[in-house]
Amino acid sequence: MAHPLQTTRLDGAAGAEGLPPVLIVGASGFVGGHTLRHLRGLGWRVVGTRSRGSGPDLRAFDLARDRLRHMVDDLMGDAGRPAHVVICAAMAQPDLCFRERDLSYQVNVVGTIRLIEDAVALGARPLYMTSGFAYDGLAGYYADDEPRWPINEYGRHKVEVEEYCAVNQPGMLLYRLDKVMGDDPAENHMFSEWYRWHLEGKPIICIADQLFSPTHVGDVARAIRIGCERNLGGVYNIANPEFFTREELARQFFRILGKQARIICKTQEELNFVDLRPEKTYLDSSRFQRDAGFRFTSVRETIQTFIENMKRTP
Ligand SMILES: NC(=O)c1ccc[n+]([C@@H]2O[C@H](COP(=O)([O-])OP(=O)(O)OC[C@H]3O[C@@H](n4cnc5c(N)ncnc54)[C@H](OP(=O)(O)O)[C@@H]3O)[C@@H](O)[C@H]2O)c1
Repeated sequence: MAHPLQTTRLDGAAGAEGLPPVLIVGASGFVGGHTLRHLRGLGWRVVGTRSRGSGPDLRAFDLARDRLRHMVDDLMGDAGRPAHVVICAAMAQPDLCFRERDLSYQVNVVGTIRLIEDAVALGARPLYMTSGFAYDGLAGYYADDEPRWPINEYGRHKVEVEEYCAVNQPGMLLYRLDKVMGDDPAENHMFSEWYRWHLEGKPIICIADQLFSPTHVGDVARAIRIGCERNLGGVYNIANPEFFTREELARQFFRILGKQARIICKTQEELNFVDLRPEKTYLDSSRFQRDAGFRFTSVRETIQTFIENMKRTP
């Protein structure tokens, strides 16, 4: 049976002159920050929020406490009421979700659902970011509409919001992301972390047996823009069709960089995680590629841009 959110609306594309106001909740984060800069660079009116982080002109908004319906005009100011509310905010570290269960549930589930409801009540279209951690990771290559079996606290939060949306917000847009990477050595992501470890003479520690789709953060930002422009609906996997084990990705990263690195694989038990990680989270994004005419940036392209940016960084 088709998932109730598997409806695609490709009508209603915004004209260049009619760019609608957008609110990005969680714009101090990796995905939200890139999306904010991408949309603003194209002339969109975008307001972004932060909670504890910082960022020029970001407005404070805490999912555990704040109600969009009470503060929308203060938040949006001259930009006007949002047509789209892009939800990039989350407590997204699995172990933190486990350790701070009450707070993370309040933020990732209660506050997020409340935000979705407020956005809809205000006439805006919410866009929610879910995760490949919605799956148990035994099979991998998950389609957009496959049944989900999370194995950790963070994944259960994502699935609870997905299920709420399926029942209560049919036609709402959800993007399921896998591992998001960048090409800027100055930002925090897996490549910059590996590079820093290498400069510090440390080995590159990889979780054994993980298989994922390393997806360029700029691709996620572009996909979010397309989702807003075309008023897409339903659940879409947004993931690079290439997939790697963590160890293989590390080998390719240092091979293309032309550096020798010591790569060590460790099991989850050896790494002392407090909550489980699913092993195979790579996703089948062919439906989005087809519907949106989208090409994902390859890992090689991302690493090559990383090298160019590295040369510019003192
Ligand atoms: N990055 C990935 O590889 C990946 C993979 C799959 C899914 N996702 C999902 O994609 C979304 C964006 O991920 P990301 O990598 O950009 O995460 P991130 O860099 O950790 O950013 C998280 C954002 O959430 C905000 N936030 C945290 N607690 C909040 C609270 N109580 N109230 C309001 N905002 C709060 C943070 O604000 P402050 O920093 O200001 O506190 C930050 O802006 C998340 O839903 C994540 O689960 C990410």
